[in-house]
Amino acid sequence: MTATSIKVQYDIKDTQLAASGKQRIEWAGREMPVLAQIRDRFAEEKPLAGIRLAACCHVTTETANLAIALKAGGADAVLIASNPLSTQDDVAASLVVDHGIPVYAIKGEDNDTYHRHVQTALDHRPNIIIDDGSDVVATLIKERQEQLSEIIGTTEETTTGIVRLRAMFKDGVLSFPAMNVNDAETKHFFDNRYGTGQSTLDGIIRATNVLLAGKAVVVVGYGWCAKGVAMRARGLGANVIVTEINPVKAIEAAMDGFRVMPMAEAAPLGDLFVTLTGNKHVIRGEHFEAMKDGAMVCNSGHFDIEIDLVALKEMTSEVRTVRSFTEEYKLKSGKSVIVLGEGRLINLAAAEGHPSAVMDMSFANQALACEYLVKHQGSLAPGLHSIPTEVDQEIASLKLKAMGIGIDTLTAEQQIYMNSWTVGT
Ligand code: ADE
Repeated sequence: MTATSIKVQYDIKDTQLAASGKQRIEWAGREMPVLAQIRDRFAEEKPLAGIRLAACCHVTTETANLAIALKAGGADAVLIASNPLSTQDDVAASLVVDHGIPVYAIKGEDNDTYHRHVQTALDHRPNIIIDDGSDVVATLIKERQEQLSEIIGTTEETTTGIVRLRAMFKDGVLSFPAMNVNDAETKHFFDNRYGTGQSTLDGIIRATNVLLAGKAVVVVGYGWCAKGVAMRARGLGANVIVTEINPVKAIEAAMDGFRVMPMAEAAPLGDLFVTLTGNKHVIRGEHFEAMKDGAMVCNSGHFDIEIDLVALKEMTSEVRTVRSFTEEYKLKSGKSVIVLGEGRLINLAAAEGHPSAVMDMSFANQALACEYLVKHQGSLAPGLHSIPTEVDQEIASLKLKAMGIGIDTLTAEQQIYMNSWTVGT
């Protein structure tokens, strides 16, 4: 491959990495049969023909399979990173070299580069934005009002992005439809729970190689992602403590068998802390002060705001890297706190994100949400829209079939019973 044989623009680490990326994208594709069926249909029907699309996602082998499906559907797509540390550079290279998809993403890019890439995505003048965390949509609304008339809609991947879109709608600034991929059942039940559960522990173990059996693991929050982490940490023998601010979720955690307490009580008990709240500074100065010597902290929520690293730095006399993605903060008090993955998504910083088998359903939702936006162009009101139940059910049926699992169907008698109110005791 020569530089002149590459037909698209890009800003990636190294095009020479393409061969490894290609192999890994194909490997992931083996676990993504639902997306593959959509890709094959898209290739025939071209539902995205003429659509300019900007995707802001973690640049992984799974996202690559999505990008390939969108291109097969006729989209003129560019891809940028949704996090400075989550890019897989070989995947970015293969998308550029083997698939002719423009990618702007480099693992470890600084914040300026990240924001420059967001601008590049908007320079593409997208009709559809696939967002993961809502940075592209927020920038569009803040800085590119003149492009709003070109937008058909957006699709949002993650809880944090949905929270931001709701805030935009409440402020009256969201003037186009936004498909809520996160809340589809075939997305959050599996990606948020089993995906985050496995990949977060994978990231922690790859970064530290610590034994989790017998450790006190404090899971901060008890949404779907946190539930997955608590469940899998328990499975590895950890003694799991949950902290929450929502009383219902706190009861759920307690009845799931976890100890529940405020962070002030959990701080001195934990060997490892994992934040998954979507909120800011859930671990703060007073908590670091109370932690055991050598306690480890990491984050698996979307943004790197959950752990107050500024406060930690102020309390620290020296920081040293002890392993990849593992930094020891020597506190002035004499103790150490270990920070994993710079407080960014540990599952994507130190591991490879969620396994392909769950991203298959998440990205099937993304592809079908784009198609839905195009089909219903002009008729969807501004604001958030659920993925239609039929689409969710269809994805579940295709996944089950691919997993070789059969299920029952209602008998005629049962169908009548389920639609009747006259039969009681
Ligand atoms: N978010 C979490 N895991 C991911 C993955 N493997 N690919 C893309 N986005 C993700």
